[in-house]
Amino acid sequence: MIRIKKMIRSILNQFGVDIYRIQRYARQPGSSQIPDDKYYRPLFSPWLGYGEFRKYYDLAKDRTIVSRDRCWILYALCRQSLFINGDIWECGVYKGGTAAMLAQIIHDYSAARFLRLFDTFEGMPQTDHAIDCHSKGDFSDTALATVQNYIQHSDIAIYHQGYIPETFRGLEHSRIAFSHVDVDIRQSVADCCEFIFPRLSVGGFMVFDDYGFPTCPGARKAVDEYFSRHDVIPLVLPTGQAVVFKNK
Ligand SMILES: C[S@@+](CC[C@H](N)C(=O)[O-])C[C@H]1O[C@@H](n2cnc3c(N)ncnc32)[C@H](O)[C@@H]1O
Repeated sequence: MIRIKKMIRSILNQFGVDIYRIQRYARQPGSSQIPDDKYYRPLFSPWLGYGEFRKYYDLAKDRTIVSRDRCWILYALCRQSLFINGDIWECGVYKGGTAAMLAQIIHDYSAARFLRLFDTFEGMPQTDHAIDCHSKGDFSDTALATVQNYIQHSDIAIYHQGYIPETFRGLEHSRIAFSHVDVDIRQSVADCCEFIFPRLSVGGFMVFDDYGFPTCPGARKAVDEYFSRHDVIPLVLPTGQAVVFKNK
């Protein structure tokens, strides 16, 4: 019997369901009176569409491959970053889904930030098949003009079309509050770390979208290699993202 219980618990765990938490929650006196309890699944899960997040996610959802829980992390960190000096950078824009969300948050909360957007807008560059699962030309079903047309906010969004790190040239004096790095492959992630982290404001952060994805082993390797040399421990999230903070 005990073995069967353990087996069920471990199967549920694989799907992210923590049976102990559910039992604890059910035992809480008055737990049924939690406001907005439709967002408790079983814990508070604001990425389901709580509050203003819904309106920002609606901008992203049809043009992004970033899941709604990862978009929530971007939303929360972007909001937080607007209290810090520096611009917002996104490396890896594709069809502009997450970029549209970030542009709208900047528009609504701060007039004095730029959103710098880096991509070829023509697909992946050469990849290293020894470590990357992607190939040259993946994500080529997009175009700069359609992304610009979708995002609008031409006073906020600045486009840097071409290959990272060449498109970083001329931006050596930048101050960055928050960077979303979603480029999937080892060399691109390594180039983003080398250029962006030294220019991150104290209190700022970088989010690596693909850190924990089995399809992006090169991304994790690049992050681990770079930050092990800088005394920074990436915070790995259950979403697959990793976040690094700049504290000095
Ligand atoms: C997973 S997609 C980005 C997804 C996007 N953030 C979204 O909301 O769906 C990865 C993008 O990274 C870009 N990319 C990867 N390496 C690059 C490099 N070295 N220079 C420019 N773009 C690069 C690809 O062109 C591709 O559009």
